[in-house]
Parts: sequence; C-alpha cells; structure tokens
Amino acid sequence: MISEEVIQKIKEQNDIVDIISESVQLKRAGRNFTGLCPFHHEKTPSFSVSPDKQIYKCFGCGEAGNVITFIMKTKNISFVETLKYLAERANIDVNFGDKTKVENNKHKKIYKINVDAARYYFACLQNDKKVIEYFIGRGIKNSTIRRFGLGYAPKGWSNITNYLKKKGYSELDLLNAGLITKGKNNSYYDRFRERVMFPVFDYKGRVIGFGGRVLDDSKPKYLNSPETEVFKKGTNLYGLNFANRDLKDRTLIIVEGYMDCISLHQYGITNVVASLGTALTSQQAKLLKRYADRVIISYDSDSAGKNATIRGLDILRKEGFDLKVLSVPQGKDPDEFVRNNGKDAFLQLIDKAMPFIDYRIERAKEGLNLKNGEMLAAYIKKVCNIVSELDPITMDVYIKKVSEETGVNEQAIYDSLSNKNQRNVKNSQNMYSESAFRQKLYLEPGFIKAERNLLKTMLQSIDAYRYVKENIEEEELILDSHKKIFNLIIETKNNKTENDEIYIEARCNDIESSKEWTKIVQSSLVDSDNYKELINDYMREIKKYKLEESKKEVMNKIKLCEEKGLFEESLQLVKQFQEIEEDIMKITNNERR
Ligand code: UTP
Ligand code: MN
Repeated sequence: MISEEVIQKIKEQNDIVDIISESVQLKRAGRNFTGLCPFHHEKTPSFSVSPDKQIYKCFGCGEAGNVITFIMKTKNISFVETLKYLAERANIDVNFGDKTKVENNKHKKIYKINVDAARYYFACLQNDKKVIEYFIGRGIKNSTIRRFGLGYAPKGWSNITNYLKKKGYSELDLLNAGLITKGKNNSYYDRFRERVMFPVFDYKGRVIGFGGRVLDDSKPKYLNSPETEVFKKGTNLYGLNFANRDLKDRTLIIVEGYMDCISLHQYGITNVVASLGTALTSQQAKLLKRYADRVIISYDSDSAGKNATIRGLDILRKEGFDLKVLSVPQGKDPDEFVRNNGKDAFLQLIDKAMPFIDYRIERAKEGLNLKNGEMLAAYIKKVCNIVSELDPITMDVYIKKVSEETGVNEQAIYDSLSNKNQRNVKNSQNMYSESAFRQKLYLEPGFIKAERNLLKTMLQSIDAYRYVKENIEEEELILDSHKKIFNLIIETKNNKTENDEIYIEARCNDIESSKEWTKIVQSSLVDSDNYKELINDYMREIKKYKLEESKKEVMNKIKLCEEKGLFEESLQLVKQFQEIEEDIMKITNNERR
C-alpha cells in the first residue's frame, strides 16, 4: 500500500484546476471555477471546481471527487495507476514496487533493438526504388513513410540478424524481440523477409513490434511480431501515439488496418487508430478511454467486418463510450475510400455515422421481411432487447420510431418490454427533475443523503460515533461505498490514527468510495444538540427505503404467482406485503411525532 504521505504529496503537486483544465474549459466564478460537466451532456455549466478545497462537484449529475477521483474516472484507470500517472506528471519519484529492475531493463533493451531494427528496415526501403514504388503506387507520400517509419525487410534469411549482431546484440536479444524465428536443428533465421514493414508504436511512441506485408497476393498477407515482453495482443492501438497529440474533442475513429490508419492520417484526418484486424478487447477500450469519450468505429462492410463491429461495440459500450458506426460505401475500406474520394468525402461519412442504437436496430432488421407477421414479431422482440438497456427518454424515442416504421402499436411494444425486465434498483437510484431554469438538477434519494449524514455524524463526536455503532451494523447500510467508509471510520477509532480524514481518504481507492468520501467531507449537518434524534432520523430513512424496495419485490412476486395461478402462495405473499406496509406506517408515524 502506498503511504498516506505520498498520496498527499501527489495531490498537493497536482493542482485540480490544472488537471481538469486539460480536458474541461473552466471559467473563474468567484472563488471557484465552472465549466461544462465532462460526465454528462449539458449546455449550461453546472460543473464546479474548488481550488481551495481541491475538489470538483457537478450539480447536474451529482458527480464529485478530488483530483484522484477525476483521473480514475476520466481515464478509466485504477487508483494505483492514477497515482502513478499523477506522480509521473509531477516528477515525484515513487517506488510502486511493481516492476523489478531486471524486468525494466529487459523491456528497455527490446525497445532499443526494435528502434535499431526499424531504422534498418527504413534504410532498406530507402535503398530500394521498387519497394518505394509500391508505397507511391498506393498513394503513400514520402513524408508519410517517414512519419510512420515504414520500411522494407529484404529477401534473405539473415539480413537483420547479421546487422544487429554487428551492433552487439545477441541471438537471445533478437529472439526476445521477436525478430528471428527458430528453425529446424536449432538454427535461427529472420522472421520478416521480403515484406514492407510497419513498426508498431505504443501510445508513448515506443516501437513494440512490427507488421510485415507481402508485396503481392501471397499468404499470409501480414506477418506480425509474436508476443514478446512488450508486445502483447489486445493491449495496444496502432496510431494512438500520433492521434493523441492533437486530440481536442475526445473523439477517435477506429479502423481495422495499418493502411487505413496511415492513409487517413495522410489526408489530415488524424484522430484515427487501428485495431489491427483483431476484435477489440476491454484493455484496449480502457486505453482509449484515456483519450476519448466518443468513438466512431469504421470497419470493412463485409460480413467479417460487421461481426467485428458488433463485438467491438459491445466492449466499448461497457466502458461507457458514446458510439457511432461509420459505413464506407461500396464495400471499400477507409483507405481506398479516402484515396478515391478525398478528405471532405470522408468527413461527410463521419457526419453521417450512425448512432450505436440505430446501427443495432438496423442490423436486427437484416434478413427479415417486415411484411411477414412472424418476422415482424421477431424484429420487435430484437428491438425490445436492444432498447431495454436504455434510459427511459431515449427508449421512448426509439420505440416511437420503430412503432412508426412498423405500424406496431407503441403500447404493445412497451408491454412486451415490461414483461421482459423489471427495473432494477440501480437504475432508479439516480433521478432527475427539471428545475425552474429548465436545467436538469440532480436529485438524490433521501436514503443516500441519510447514509452520508450518518457517517458524517460518526466523525463529529465520539458520543455520536458510539451511538451509531451500538445501533447500526455495516450490513444495514445500502451503498457499498458507504459500508466501506463505515468500516474505515471504525478502523480509525480502533487504530487511533493521527489524522482520520487522511487515513480514510488514502483508502477510498475506487471511484465510488472516493466520490462519496468527498461528499461526506463537504456536507454540513443540520445544527442540533440532540445527535441521537438526528441519527434516529437517518436510520429511519434508510430502513424505510429498504422496506419500500422489498415491498416492490413482493409485489412482483405476487404478480408472478397470480399469472401462474398459485393462489396459496400469493395469499402468503399478500400477508407479507401487508406486514411490510405496516412497518412502513410505523416508521412514518414515528417521523411525525
Ligand atoms: P485487411 O485484410 O483489411 O488488410 O486486414 P488492409 O489493412 O486493408 O491491408 P491492405 O490494404 O490490403 O494492404 C486488416 C488488418 O488485419 C491484420 C493487419 O493488421 C491488417 O492491417 N491482418 C490481416 C493480419 O494481421 N494478418 C493478415 O494476414 C491479414
Ligand atoms: Mn486495405
């Protein structure tokens, strides 16, 4: 575990206003700064950053936190990764104890060999007019060849081996870098022969591996470096080192191939990365998240490309991207298209890119004749599946659309939807209401505030702390983050920690607890001499919420039993239902007293 002092130091040396300004335009407003919230869509700023308190807060969506929370959330990286990132940024030397020196040196050596190899391939290309012709023939300019470090691995079995050995590298070094292959009777030979070479850079611009393409139609078309210590499948995105330099609007386009990526860059569309023909992984999605919130996926429109698109979209959606699908007409790939039609035509395709939901609905229709009743029903079922995950407003928009398109009654679609899934607690936790200013204001359910206040009182006096501990158990709290903080508070008392707040903050190492902790520290309690009464109120609020939830659950069970004709069971449940109602009444009456 990283010490509290180090965490404090990292926080002190990374001013929250500086950090947030990198991605959000902030304006001074009195003591604070305001801007458009990066966590939800809005047109008028409700996001506020306090330089004094070193925290941020959004009145529109309820997000809150400190500089660490902000980085964890926007870059989608863990607590420790965030500390590393911020320490590096502020030039603080921290030993995170993860990579051993030996390992580090091994990696450094591979990067170095790779750079030497890339230089060699580059020089070979420059010396070979015929191969340069290949690139020129494919519309690649000389400046692009330089920028992407393109090269050529000449014919022969030991070119790079001899070259690099002369530079002092051993056979083992070359093997570790994946530049040679073991043949029969333990001899080694160059992996890449007679291929144009694409060095693969990581996001920092280090050469981690290579892809080599044949000059003709022979197979395999591309040969790639094997997995090495620094080249791991599904962790990297080609072109990210170039794309991230001038990425302002946090939108990235993902293409499939080297040439697609390079071509688009050459035509001045530089927010492009390539997944290199494999299905996207969640690790790649997390990497993307550091740079982008919106992703436009532009794969080949052949069916393999389409399937890859769907899979990729699912992964990206899980990471919370705003997604669109760009289809290149006439089965062309982005490279061919931009070469034939130019930059503006491609920009138009970007403009016309289809939102993710529309794309899935469009795909659901494929192969179905909607004039046929059965097929139409199948289509509606698929649509229900797709829209069931949406927020109510967006869902409504799509159901209207589909209803208009098919003539199927809106209500009928809604009905088959509500049969399908019961709303879960999570979705109903955050509610919005329109304020007088026609701006969405975040309204929290009472129980969340009550839990927060309960925790806050525990910190305020030892008497209140004792009273809470005597009367409430961890399990009785609802939010996991609150349970965690509850336990941390107990730890501070048991360990007699020097500074409770710093102790707890250092251990709120996930987004939710870090956010909740910020809110707890910031909140102010109602002024009251009678802490017991306050605490009782909070506990009632929490209990009431739990009862309301179990009431809903029992209600659903009753419906199910009635549908199935299980009358005895349903009578039992009705009794249970009444008991819960009575309990709720009791609590409500207590409140009134
Ligand atoms: P494509 O077959 O679409 O190739 O594969 P491409 O990028 O359009 O290449 P050109 O235009 O024919 O030169 C897309 C990506 O899939 C990976 C490569 O990364 C390629 O860029 N791939 C493809 C392989 O790794 N191996 C292969 O044999 C083929
Ligand atoms: Mn291509």
